[in-house]
Amino acid sequence: MSNVEIIGGTHLHGTVKVSGAKNAAIPLLCASLLARGKVLFRNMPKITDVDSLVRILKYLECDVKFKGHTMLVDNTNLKYKPLLLTECKQMRGSYYLMGVFLTLFSKCEMVLPGGCKIGKRPIDIHLQAFKEMGFQYVINEDVISIVKHEDIKNLEITLKNKSVGASLNAMFAGLSIDNLTLRNTLFEPEGRDVLLFLRQIGYDVHLQEDVLVHKTKKLELKLIKHNVLPDRVEAMTYTILGLLTGKLRIQNVATKDIELPLKLLEESDYAIKYNSNEIIVNKSKGNGMRIKTEVYPGFPTDMQPIFGVLCAYSKATSIIEETIFENRLQIYHDLKDLGVDVNIETSTITIQGQSEIECTKLTACDLRQGVALALLAFAAKGTVQIENFEYIERGYEDFIHKVTAIGGKIKQYDVLPLQNK
Ligand code: EPU
Repeated sequence: MSNVEIIGGTHLHGTVKVSGAKNAAIPLLCASLLARGKVLFRNMPKITDVDSLVRILKYLECDVKFKGHTMLVDNTNLKYKPLLLTECKQMRGSYYLMGVFLTLFSKCEMVLPGGCKIGKRPIDIHLQAFKEMGFQYVINEDVISIVKHEDIKNLEITLKNKSVGASLNAMFAGLSIDNLTLRNTLFEPEGRDVLLFLRQIGYDVHLQEDVLVHKTKKLELKLIKHNVLPDRVEAMTYTILGLLTGKLRIQNVATKDIELPLKLLEESDYAIKYNSNEIIVNKSKGNGMRIKTEVYPGFPTDMQPIFGVLCAYSKATSIIEETIFENRLQIYHDLKDLGVDVNIETSTITIQGQSEIECTKLTACDLRQGVALALLAFAAKGTVQIENFEYIERGYEDFIHKVTAIGGKIKQYDVLPLQNK
C-alpha cells in the first residue's frame, strides 16, 4: 500500500506530455502473442497494469524488453500454460488472453479477471461469443476453463449488448474462424488501434460501423512496429488539473478522440484552446454542465469522476448521469462527505459548485475515482493525504513526476499493511 501527501492550492504551470493509452496497451500486448515474429511497440505506457501483463508474457516464455517507452516482444518460444496467476486477478484486461489463447491453442484455463470495482462487470457477452464459436466452458469457483468442441468455418454472431471488452475478445477468438461476421460490436479509439495492429500482423479484419468481418489470410513472418495511441483519459485529467490550478499545455493528444468533452468545456465557458494534438488551458470557473455517459463517441464513463470534481468547483449546478457502470459514483459520496452539496439518486447526481472544498484525508478505491481525488487535493487549500495511491499507478504513468515537473507538491510514502487486516 502506498499513500501520497499533496499540498493543494499551488499554481501549476508548464507542459505535460500524455503517455500511451492503458486501454489500448493491454489488448495490444495480448494481441502481440498472435504475431508471427517480433513486435516493437512505441509509446508503451509505464504503468503497473502493463508491468503485470509483461510478467504474464514472461511466464508464457515470451522474451520482453522494455526500455524507455519502447517494448520489444518476441514470442518465438511462447508456450501454452494455465493462467492461474495473481496478475490475471489484479487487472481487468487479462481477459483478452482468453480470446487470444482460443485462437492460438483452442483452449484456455484462467482465473477470472479482477479490475476496478465499479459495477458487477459480468463477462456473459464474451462467453456468449465463445460458445457460438464452438467453445465450451466451465467455471469452478474463480477459474474458467474453455475448450474447443466444434470446428466452425463460417459464422455470423450478434453480440447481445455493446461491450468494449467483449468486442475485442470475440474478435481475438474469432480469428480462429475462416469467415466471421460479428455484429453489434463496440470499438472505441483504443479498440480501433488494436484492429489496426491486427491488420499490421496480417489478419484480414475490417470494421464497417459496428460490424466486424474477418477472413482467413496467411500470416507473414516479419518485424512489426506499432505506436500505441495517446491516452485520452490521461489527456483530459491534465486538462482538468490545469483548469483547476493554473496554466497547462498538454501535448501528444489525439483531440479528435475527445471532441465531445472538449466541446462541453468550451460551451461551459472554460478557458481552453486546442488543435489536433495539443490542449492549452488556464485556471477558470465554468458554468454548470449536463453530462450523460454513453458509449463512444458519447461522453466517456472513464472521464465522469474527473468531470465531477470540476463541476464541484464550477459556478453553478451540474447534472451527471452514469449509464455504463452502476457503481462508478464513489467520488460523489466523497464530495458529499466533504460537505459539497451533492444529491445522488440512483445513477443521477446533482452537484452544486462551490468556491472551496476542505479536505485532509481521502481514500482511493479505484483508478478514476483515485485520480479525481488527486485533482480535488491539488485544487484544495492545505495538506491532503490520499490513501491507496497504487490504484492511480495502475493507469497513470509517472503521475508524481509529471505533476512535480509542473510545480505540484506531492510526496509518496509506503504504508506497511496492518497484520490480520
Ligand atoms: N457488460 C456485461 N457483460 C459483459 C461485458 C460487459 O454486462 O460480458 C457490461 C458491463 O458490466 C458494463 C457495460 O457492459 O456495465 C460496459 O462494459 P464494457 O465491456 O464496455 O467495458 P469493459 O471492457 O469492462 C473497458 C475499459 C474500461 C472502460 C470501458 C468503457 C479495459 C480493460 N477496460 O471496460 O476502463 O471504462 O471499457 O470504455 O479496457 C478504466 O480505464 O478505468 C476502465 C474501467
